[in-house]
Amino acid sequence: MTPTHPCVVGIACFAILGCVTVAQALVTLEVTEGNSTCIKAELSASFSITYDTANGTRTVMVPLPGSAVVGGASSCGGDGRSPWLVALFGDGHTLGLSFSSNNSLYSVSNLTLQYNLSDVTTFPEANSTDVVTVETTSVGMVARVNTTYRCISVSPVIVGGATVTFSNVKMEAYMTGDDLSPNESVCTADQNSPTAPLHPPSTTTAAPVPVPTPGTPNQGSYSVSNSNGTVCLLARMALQLNISHFSALQNKTIQEVVNLLPNQTTSSGSCDPSSATLVLTQGGTTNLSFLFTLNTTSNRYHLSGLSVVAAWSDMTAPFNTSNSSLDYLRGSLGRSYMCSSEQTLAVDQNFSLNTFQLQVQPFGLTRGQFAQAEECQLDQDNMLIPIVVGAALAGLVLIVLIAYLIGRKRRPAGYQTI
Ligand SMILES: *[C@@H]1O[C@H](CO)[C@@H](O)[C@H](O)[C@H]1NC(C)=O
Ligand SMILES: *[C@@H]1O[C@H](CO)[C@@H](O)[C@H](O)[C@H]1NC(C)=O
Ligand SMILES: *[C@@H]1O[C@H](CO)[C@@H](O)[C@H](O)[C@H]1NC(C)=O
Ligand SMILES: *[C@@H]1O[C@H](CO)[C@@H](O)[C@H](O)[C@H]1NC(C)=O
Ligand SMILES: *[C@@H]1O[C@H](CO)[C@@H](O)[C@H](O)[C@H]1NC(C)=O
Ligand SMILES: *[C@@H]1O[C@H](CO)[C@@H](O)[C@H](O)[C@H]1NC(C)=O
Ligand SMILES: *[C@@H]1O[C@H](CO)[C@@H](O)[C@H](O)[C@H]1NC(C)=O
Ligand SMILES: *[C@@H]1O[C@H](CO)[C@@H](O)[C@H](O)[C@H]1NC(C)=O
Ligand SMILES: *[C@@H]1O[C@H](CO)[C@@H](O)[C@H](O)[C@H]1NC(C)=O
Ligand SMILES: *[C@@H]1O[C@H](CO)[C@@H](O)[C@H](O)[C@H]1NC(C)=O
Ligand SMILES: *[C@@H]1O[C@H](CO)[C@@H](O)[C@H](O)[C@H]1NC(C)=O
Ligand SMILES: *[C@@H]1O[C@H](CO)[C@@H](O)[C@H](O)[C@H]1NC(C)=O
Repeated sequence: MTPTHPCVVGIACFAILGCVTVAQALVTLEVTEGNSTCIKAELSASFSITYDTANGTRTVMVPLPGSAVVGGASSCGGDGRSPWLVALFGDGHTLGLSFSSNNSLYSVSNLTLQYNLSDVTTFPEANSTDVVTVETTSVGMVARVNTTYRCISVSPVIVGGATVTFSNVKMEAYMTGDDLSPNESVCTADQNSPTAPLHPPSTTTAAPVPVPTPGTPNQGSYSVSNSNGTVCLLARMALQLNISHFSALQNKTIQEVVNLLPNQTTSSGSCDPSSATLVLTQGGTTNLSFLFTLNTTSNRYHLSGLSVVAAWSDMTAPFNTSNSSLDYLRGSLGRSYMCSSEQTLAVDQNFSLNTFQLQVQPFGLTRGQFAQAEECQLDQDNMLIPIVVGAALAGLVLIVLIAYLIGRKRRPAGYQTI
């Protein structure tokens, strides 16, 4: 891939109003030993963390703050140990990235997230005071040795019950110089989405135009499998995101409605006995997480949480929000939930999700197939209209027919012929 010249990026940033805003800090982290730097990272990250409260679970979105510092067990490795970057932030929270390499490639071999539930400002009403540690080895950050790993796109990493969402990443390990190498290994998401954040919109000087509303979105089919490969969640739906955000082009807050493109969207997630997560990722620009909860007493499930991260070309900073006290798409265990009509799932005042032609089943699948569907009230109402109209028409026909028959019977015989 051709490396982007640093100057070009700098100017692009000015073109879209200084690109790095307070919403999500660009954090610089460096691990040094003696006088030399071995790991350097510039990145933005936010954490979506689900935890227990006395009355159910709750999800919070925590950004990696600009005040994060390198510390703890950070090291350049050697003596059989791996290079390790550990960022400390807030009241005892940490994000750790451990690296490994062979002669040609290096990669993040594991990611560790540690969060302190005693921090009541971040985790209100947590019913535990533990420091929770979650870890994953599926991080997917790989680069050629002696190059900078670059991933401007939004990229989520699922780790335990949390999601770490990275963006604007420039990072190098096993460094030979003191600064990031100008040669870059560009991540797949950046290669596929030229409209990733920080890139200048192609029509910077165009006159402000109202954002046109797209047509009805296309239906996509998504699934989640558990570790043994069994499909445990199925969804078929057409989705439209409605986000209110500050437009760099128009210098004001706009309402942008964007369809999710199924052919550019991948699904992932996890299934637990009483909760299931579906994560939809469209290129490096949009990431949607659905959290379904099963009430094992009533054997009914519902959509209890939705979170979104969007980094669209007209945004000054990635948009992210979540709500984990929702109550949508209610169905019974062993059945799928279906709603062909348009539904609006309001998440907060800046984000709502419109769904069309939807069928989901987050629990109790057999042989990877949808079970019998429970139709939503809207569909039943919509079905009712043709039925009522049809019944009214049939009634009318019947009345006319009876009137005709009665009329014929009563007609006096004398008038029959002229
Ligand atoms: C670090 O650099 C200083 C001066 O640049 C030098 O005096 C010192 O020996 C160096 N230390 C190491 C461990 O290389
Ligand atoms: C939990 O209950 C308390 C009081 O009973 C209430 O204030 C709080 O909003 C509830 N939290 C959730 C997440 O429902
Ligand atoms: C916290 O609540 C969850 C369910 O709401 C429960 O499973 C867990 O045992 C509770 N933990 C503590 C320490 O009370
Ligand atoms: C993750 O990396 C750290 C630091 O290198 C190491 O201590 C830990 O054992 C690793 N975990 C796994 C599962 O590889
Ligand atoms: C966790 O947070 C609490 C309260 O904010 C603090 O007193 C404690 O030191 C923190 N724990 C760690 C390991 O930093
Ligand atoms: C380095 O690792 C990658 C993948 O792990 C592999 O494709 C490549 O062949 C390895 N290179 C060498 C020189 O071992
Ligand atoms: C990386 O750079 C170092 C020092 O410049 C050099 O010794 C090494 O061979 C390079 N490795 C690769 C794979 O280019
Ligand atoms: C796969 O795992 C699930 C639970 O995780 C279990 O219910 C199911 O029976 C397993 N299927 C097979 C084929 O092992
Ligand atoms: C988007 O949301 C706004 C505010 O909630 C609403 O007024 C508008 O009608 C919505 N647009 C669509 C296409 O859903
Ligand atoms: C954006 O709008 C504000 C007030 O609405 C104005 O003060 C500012 O100059 C505008 N900036 C640009 C770049 O047009
Ligand atoms: C995705 O679908 C849209 C509309 O159906 C189509 O215009 C577009 O070319 C497709 N893109 C790819 C990469 O297949
Ligand atoms: C589960 O359903 C039962 C029966 O409808 C209800 O009493 C209970 O509050 C529900 N539990 C949760 C966590 O919503």
